[in-house]
Amino acid sequence: MYKTREVCRACGFGKKAGPGGIKSAEETEELIPVFDLGIQPLANDFARPTDERAGYAPLKVLYCPRCRLGQLSVEVKPEILYARNYPYVTSNSKTMLDHFAKIESDLVGICESQTGVVEIGSNDGALLKFFGERGWKHLLGIDPAENLCKISIANGIPALSQFFDEYNALTARRSLGCAPALILARHCFCHVNDWQGFVRGLEKLAGEQTVIAIEVPYAQDMLVKCEFDTVYHEHTSYLSIQSIEYLLRDSSLCLEDVLEYDIHGGAIMLIIRSRKVAQVGKAILFHAKEKIDLAMWRKFAEHAEIKIMELGAMVRNLVSQGKKVVGYGASAKSTVWINACSFTKKEISFITDTTPGKWYTLSPGSDIPIVDSGALTRELPDYAILFAWNYAAECIEKEKIFRDKGGRWILPVPDIKIV
Ligand code: TMP
Ligand code: ZN
Repeated sequence: MYKTREVCRACGFGKKAGPGGIKSAEETEELIPVFDLGIQPLANDFARPTDERAGYAPLKVLYCPRCRLGQLSVEVKPEILYARNYPYVTSNSKTMLDHFAKIESDLVGICESQTGVVEIGSNDGALLKFFGERGWKHLLGIDPAENLCKISIANGIPALSQFFDEYNALTARRSLGCAPALILARHCFCHVNDWQGFVRGLEKLAGEQTVIAIEVPYAQDMLVKCEFDTVYHEHTSYLSIQSIEYLLRDSSLCLEDVLEYDIHGGAIMLIIRSRKVAQVGKAILFHAKEKIDLAMWRKFAEHAEIKIMELGAMVRNLVSQGKKVVGYGASAKSTVWINACSFTKKEISFITDTTPGKWYTLSPGSDIPIVDSGALTRELPDYAILFAWNYAAECIEKEKIFRDKGGRWILPVPDIKIV
């Protein structure tokens, strides 16, 4: 189901073990363990009571002292993580649509033309559809989840149901008939195990003028704001700018700029282009400001441990006083929190979510039931933990009735507070 990964996927630090896993005397350099949540269920394994579960795997981050990349100590088989029926659907929330508008207007100013957009990890095609509505032409999605590609195609956005690699990169380029003006990848690069293969694919798909825009959660934001619930098996990497520079070192591509966004607790968009045309000044400035280091990871791990104890004690205390506590948003992040705090149905009665595909399933590891979002105002619990904290303002506004009737939100990030 998973295999261990001891070598940095960006710079190669950490020697490979010899036959039988035995290391020779010279093979001493090792990645440094910095954060460990023990054995955890797969965060998006929302399953019906009769479904077979995918299982558990270690959830531990190793830090590379050479390029400052954080990466998981294991790689869970992608076919297990991104099943044919992947439940994560890109949010159609106002927060997300505002974000789409922002990135579209930023990218229209950078790209040479609006002809040819390939999105890697296109999910249900929502972003490409948005770009199409703004006048971009020749759109193509690539995503391993068959269920989501079907939705994309039904909405008029062609999609290849595959993991992106150097072979389907060529298929994509052929099907467009030219190099795309833009290659987009939102929140999928940090899910990829083989970064070298991914870069080879980008080299095959891109032309000299193609802009490659890769959005990832920014590790520095995660560390500073202690968003430890971003750590789950799908997120194999927590990247630093230096790790990207190492990764691209021997390729024909280079990092030109880094754009910053508020989405998902803090994200960056890596703007990558052919070395022949790239102007790297802005990326160098961004790199110089980056503060990620081992001490920052250590502080994050200590802070996370305190937060886990704090939320656990707070909820158990409320429940012991007879209060009803529920979860709001069956995000992958909710799974991380719930299992880190060892919550069960006793502490959290249910989790509401707007995604119909998640209703009537059970939360991985805890078996807390997931129900429709109307349950919050129907049941009027005393407290709701806002696991979808990345949409906090929008959720609180939408669920006014809950607060008006005396309900209180528990915000878990950045600091635990009741509002
Ligand atoms: P995400 O942070 O991975 O996008 O997951 C957020 C989850 O929260 C997703 O399952 C949808 C859910 N959600 C709600 O239940 N209500 C909402 O208002 C929003 C914006 C999201
Ligand atoms: Zn490294």
